[in-house]
Amino acid sequence: MTRPGLFISFEGIDGSGKSTQTQALAAYLREKGHEVVLTREPGGSPGAEEIRALVLQGEPDRWSAETELLLFTAARRDHLERVIWPALERGAVVICDRFADSTRMYQGRSGLRDKVDALHDLMIGVEPDLTILIDMDAAEALSRAKARATDEERFEDFGLGLQEQMRAGFLELAKAAPERFCVIDGARVPAVICADIILAVDARLS
Ligand code: TYD
Repeated sequence: MTRPGLFISFEGIDGSGKSTQTQALAAYLREKGHEVVLTREPGGSPGAEEIRALVLQGEPDRWSAETELLLFTAARRDHLERVIWPALERGAVVICDRFADSTRMYQGRSGLRDKVDALHDLMIGVEPDLTILIDMDAAEALSRAKARATDEERFEDFGLGLQEQMRAGFLELAKAAPERFCVIDGARVPAVICADIILAVDARLS
């Protein structure tokens, strides 16, 4: 399906600096005159933000793995219908902090990958044009994430083992879809990381 806009997702483990970089990229593109929709998952639309609180707050074992997958997918469907598709139809650049690759990793982690893929095909069926993967050391990222001390720490509470598994998994996904992914070394100062991201995005826009 061709669409007038450009759909960019950011992925990476908790604390990898995605939100700083999505904001910097949005500012750069707006400066260049693009309409930018900066959004995030889980959430991004009023209904999906309500689901966000359900999945990110509370005890790690609050939901079964299957229920959690359905909640994330429901949130994504609402976000797509109400925010992402209309923006792409208008020709906007959509920058989304996490998208389906996060579900492949986090909800697919305990043997559910087939169900994640089936639900994605059935209910979502869209991939970003470009996915920026910010890769960095899991221990360093987790300590950064923990330093933020919010009430949305259900996934951070799974600990370092999960973060390491997620980092390796994201790199595997990137290897399997090199035309969509751009892997960025997140262990550098933010301005240098941002410059690399801008190069990758400008190449897609031209
Ligand atoms: P996010 O707000 O991006 O947290 P952070 O800024 O710490 O990276 O995402 C919150 C958590 O939601 C994150 O730990 C990963 C998890 N998540 C999933 O498990 N599945 C998903 O599909 C998405 C989008 C996020």
